[in-house]
Amino acid sequence: MRAHVIALSLLSAFTADAATVREDSHERAKPPGLTVKTTSGTFTGLVNSTTPNVRQWLGVPYGRPPLGSLRFMPPEKAPNYGAADAKAYKPICHQNSGNKSSLYWQLLPEYLNRDPESEDCLYLNIWAPRQPREKRVPVIIWVSGGGFKEGGGHALYQVPDQWVQRMQTHIVVTFNFRLHIFGFPGSPAASINAGLMDLRLVVEWLRDNIAGFGGDPNRMILYGQSSGNNMVLMYSYAHPKQPIVRGFIGTSGGTPATNPTTSPNFHNVAQVVGCANLTAAAELACMQTVDAPALQQAVDTINKDPNRGLFRPIADNVTVFTNLTERLEKGLVAKLPFIGGFMYNEPAVFLPFDPDATTAPAPIPIPGIEGLTCAIKQEVE
Ligand SMILES: *[C@@H]1O[C@H](CO)[C@@H](O)[C@H](O)[C@H]1NC(C)=O
Ligand SMILES: *[C@@H]1O[C@H](CO)[C@@H](O)[C@H](O)[C@H]1NC(C)=O
Ligand SMILES: *[C@@H]1O[C@H](CO)[C@@H](O)[C@H](O)[C@H]1NC(C)=O
Ligand SMILES: *[C@@H]1O[C@H](CO)[C@@H](O)[C@H](O)[C@H]1NC(C)=O
Ligand SMILES: *[C@@H]1O[C@H](CO)[C@@H](O)[C@H](O)[C@H]1NC(C)=O
Repeated sequence: MRAHVIALSLLSAFTADAATVREDSHERAKPPGLTVKTTSGTFTGLVNSTTPNVRQWLGVPYGRPPLGSLRFMPPEKAPNYGAADAKAYKPICHQNSGNKSSLYWQLLPEYLNRDPESEDCLYLNIWAPRQPREKRVPVIIWVSGGGFKEGGGHALYQVPDQWVQRMQTHIVVTFNFRLHIFGFPGSPAASINAGLMDLRLVVEWLRDNIAGFGGDPNRMILYGQSSGNNMVLMYSYAHPKQPIVRGFIGTSGGTPATNPTTSPNFHNVAQVVGCANLTAAAELACMQTVDAPALQQAVDTINKDPNRGLFRPIADNVTVFTNLTERLEKGLVAKLPFIGGFMYNEPAVFLPFDPDATTAPAPIPIPGIEGLTCAIKQEVE
């Protein structure tokens, strides 16, 4: 009797395995599709003949458009939009692109996001292998830099189609998030860093949906550059218990050990767009009714230093903390692998740029990494 039971269990174990194997090979044999059901709709992507082994979904909504009373506020999940194409980039978030005679504008525009801008900008883009090396591949979530005032999911040099074409080993996701006054308003009545919450919503959206694209939700990492690296680090402090992602990569950036708790800038902008002399709550409500381009214009006018945005993360003790040393001491940080680095010469992009110079301008050292500064035009070219 006992032998019989064992035999039966072995048999059922064997049949279960066989069924799993059959199902696996069936899934592997099936060419990955371009139409994927997600929590915000069923999206049909494209294959561009320039990278025939890459499936792309462009302009997938992850948040409800942050308009009207949602401006400056935490993002909400996108509703379900039903069946839709995801074959073209959506607008980028409003941004201040600094001095239009900078090195970036004159020599390296491929690093900039140059699509039309809109406040309705909470979209992400996905590049996935068409002949994936595994049934579910790891996922890199790219967090763009730009001083919290510019950036998004579509800078030409950051489009990863060739990389995914070559490797077939991972998915890359890029996304737009709210910037400067829209993402980091610092209003006393809405003391929340909406742009950082956009990042969290992207991670949650991918956790819930990336499997449908062939991605492994248990092997996602955040990869940020410059202020994008700052956002990745802030994220690691804000989500010590449930980071969802399994690792971090950060280049060319960091986060200050302490962060300011207030900023006068929201109030200063309010003064020039017809929202002067109000209580904090009334000021916020008034600022939610100003046309987005007018708000953008006011920020650009007030900002005297185009290299540095006025609106940056403010400590709200939810997304950003006043004292990170204190958080570290208490172990309140995601304990995950982190790769960090800087590039040789990188602060040179902040030097005054003279396109006709033949000698290097004097370096502007960044404290602690002086050895990395020097100059540059010839190298860029
Ligand atoms: C296909 O890729 C090329 C080169 O990367 C690009 O110029 C073109 O706009 C892409 N087409 C579509 C439909 O995305
Ligand atoms: C705001 O208050 C200041 C000082 O009380 C006053 O000079 C100014 O006219 C007021 N502005 C508006 C728009 O009411
Ligand atoms: C955040 O916490 C610090 C103490 O750690 C406190 O001084 C600060 O006022 C808090 N800020 C907010 C917005 O709650
Ligand atoms: C931050 O916290 C650390 C550890 O508790 C403390 O030593 C340091 O003085 C704090 N920094 C500031 C600016 O309050
Ligand atoms: C913009 O850059 C140019 C040259 O690089 C410089 O002459 C000009 O003063 C800058 N403008 C501002 C507003 O900084």
